[in-house]
Amino acid sequence: MKDRMKKQTINNKQYLSGPEILKEMNISWSKEMFDKTKEDYKKVSRVIPEIEWSVFAPYIQAINTLKKDMNAVILAHNYQTPEIFHCVSDIRGDSLQLAKEAGNVDAEIILQCGVHFMAETSKLLNMDKTVLIPSMEAGCSLAESITGEDVKKIKNENPNIPVVTYVNTSAEVKAESDICCTSSNALEIVNSLDSEEVIFLPDEFLAMNVAKETKKKIIMWKGRCEVHEEFTPEEIIEFRENEPGVKVIAHPECSPDVLAESDFSGSTSAMINWVKINQPKKVLMVTECSMSDNISVENPNVNFVRPCNLCPHMKTINLENILESLWNKQHEIIIDPEIAIKAKQAVNKMIDL
Ligand code: 13P
Ligand code: SF4
Repeated sequence: MKDRMKKQTINNKQYLSGPEILKEMNISWSKEMFDKTKEDYKKVSRVIPEIEWSVFAPYIQAINTLKKDMNAVILAHNYQTPEIFHCVSDIRGDSLQLAKEAGNVDAEIILQCGVHFMAETSKLLNMDKTVLIPSMEAGCSLAESITGEDVKKIKNENPNIPVVTYVNTSAEVKAESDICCTSSNALEIVNSLDSEEVIFLPDEFLAMNVAKETKKKIIMWKGRCEVHEEFTPEEIIEFRENEPGVKVIAHPECSPDVLAESDFSGSTSAMINWVKINQPKKVLMVTECSMSDNISVENPNVNFVRPCNLCPHMKTINLENILESLWNKQHEIIIDPEIAIKAKQAVNKMIDL
């Protein structure tokens, strides 16, 4: 009964900002809070100075309390910052893992700490649930590179050729596709299709990397990830010279020339696993910066060498807007039901494979 009343006050509450919510919940930094959150702090102490913990800890406590009260679950992509990744999320992973897990979530609310297309994928698999994203600025240069109309045009120009779309696309684009893929299963999905030619959208570099490994002819689009396209093979060669013995692992959204200079390439979770298993003395993770921070705690003997590039979209999400998103139930993901049916088919085909 007490819980139900609490829920009603939450649901009828007025819009409040992060600091106002903390005040309303009577949560503030104290010595007792430091003692109580010691275990959480240990997980991030290598990358977050103690002084910053006094700002993060009240938000972490408020989010975790509200999450329980509202029957919410938090999904976080591997690129989220360590305080989000380790201290408030329930499910972590790459795009494929998050999509799969989203389908099994048993909660009323899903809050997605990732970019907009990831939240849309969660909604597609949970049309009856409330899916929230803390920042509407969390877009993706790949998703923005193509529209549903573009896909229709490509299909008209290339009739009877199956369309594979990377999950980094809008629901509208997925709805025009035969099947989706992620960086961890792109080759497998392409090879599974009964056709000698495949339209692969929208990531040009991922398409080129798949084309190198398959016998099928790949028809590409011109989308690029603004984070991974910045890495160059020259940069990697220079790093190898300056950091003898360094292992280089790269995400397949990088150019084929960058991958050719790398020791391993795979999805964000495959990269994490590679480090866990191989325990290199020094590693250069050619991807978004938070990845190294997130796994440095569990791999204390590995030295993570920079550079990395920040994804400006992923970085629009922080503890303050996560709390605001939960409390204010904002920003809710809404998808046109007709588009959702078709888009869901393309996502489910991938999951079933
Ligand atoms: P993963 O599926 O490998 O996590 O990649 C998602 C992404 O957006 C990488 O930039
Ligand atoms: Fe999109 Fe690139 Fe950011 Fe991944 S890193 S979300 S592909 S812009």
